[in-house]
Amino acid sequence: MKQDMIVILDLGSTENTKVAREIRDLGVYSEIYPHDITADELKAMDNVKGIILNGGENRVVDGKAVEVCDCIYKIGLPMMSIDHPTAKCGLKFDEIPDKDQMKNFLFDTCGAEANWNMKNFIEDQVELIRRQVGDKKVLLALSGGVDSSVVAALLIKAIGKQLVCVHVNHGLMRKGESESVIEVFRNQLDANLIYVDASERFLSKLENVADPEAKRKIIGAEFIRVFEEEAGKLDGIEFLGQGTIYPDIIESGTKTAKIVKSHHNVGGLPENLQFGLVEPLKQLFKDEVRSCGIELGLPSNMVFRQPFPGPGLGVRCLGAITRDRLEAVRESDAILREEFANAGLDKKVWQYFTLIPDFKSVGVKNNERCFEFPVIIRAVNTVDAMTATIEQLDWDILIKVRDRILSEVKNVNRVLYDLSPKPCATIEWE
Ligand code: XMP
Repeated sequence: MKQDMIVILDLGSTENTKVAREIRDLGVYSEIYPHDITADELKAMDNVKGIILNGGENRVVDGKAVEVCDCIYKIGLPMMSIDHPTAKCGLKFDEIPDKDQMKNFLFDTCGAEANWNMKNFIEDQVELIRRQVGDKKVLLALSGGVDSSVVAALLIKAIGKQLVCVHVNHGLMRKGESESVIEVFRNQLDANLIYVDASERFLSKLENVADPEAKRKIIGAEFIRVFEEEAGKLDGIEFLGQGTIYPDIIESGTKTAKIVKSHHNVGGLPENLQFGLVEPLKQLFKDEVRSCGIELGLPSNMVFRQPFPGPGLGVRCLGAITRDRLEAVRESDAILREEFANAGLDKKVWQYFTLIPDFKSVGVKNNERCFEFPVIIRAVNTVDAMTATIEQLDWDILIKVRDRILSEVKNVNRVLYDLSPKPCATIEWE
């Protein structure tokens, strides 16, 4: 079954994503394409019900005006333009049409069906994955993050044990994280899961490395090496599963849109591996990925978990990583997460964690001088992680977390709260 689609042609608007989202929210599938797509390419997609030209006139990219090929107008599909006065179509809007106007276009003018929902999406993808993979095997790096977890669940539904998941524990995971990956995927979903405890290997590579970029590079490169070694032990793998999602593709830039960042996948998978790619989430926005995960039966704490950087606690144990501070950051972070969940803040605050700098301060414990580390608490809100504000936490919760950290976490004698927004600070410290 193919779902009806509305194509948005990107004429340099910054609001393509917003338009696509609004159309999908009305139950019709929508994708964004570069403005210079040809009529033949559009005709080859046999589920297009209508076209939206999105973007103002006089847009110039690489010295050329952004214009739509005349052939597009001749396809005979219903068209609408937004903020494009010279467009040669009847239906024109100066700004994004309101809900009723959009509904009229989708359902009356284009005759589209509201058949975009997660059940249909999953059915379609299961079918497509089976067709692509046949009786071959797919390898997936399963970090336990939202995207890789949802891809894993979808692939398990489609091909069961033909999926081989590899979970690499780099020793920089949060408390209980690897255990929960094993519990959900091996025990509950009966997945073919290889668990690699590479903690010692990563930690010894990172010994005495203080520079943040050097740390990140070592973690990324070592991850690839471990993954390649595991892949080398397996026979008959022809495909690599990846948790690429729609924003990764949009942010890599269409011809018209500015490149925000080049597409990278968390964990940085090997580029030279000769596998076919299986990327079943590449059409989904983040919240749709979450709905897909829920529909597939993943636990909500896995599907709605806060973002966590690929290098993990490695960038929150500042400077050269030491085991005492790594342990302290893991324990204090677990306390913070537990208290946030108790207070319902886990559903309100975008990202919250602790970190430990690599200096000590003087304190007094049990009437004796001590010389120990501070723990810093960070709690921020953001839409796109490009800018962020701090959560204005109640003192009560801060005091509760402070008391628990000071009494339960070893080698710590102070607790601080980071008040800095992004910019000038970034969310992480390294
Ligand atoms: P910054 O510190 O740049 O972080 O303000 C923005 C967001 O990105 C996350 N982050 C990462 N995510 N791999 C990731 O997948 C990384 O290397 C990485 N570094 C930072 C950070 O946690 C925040 O949500």
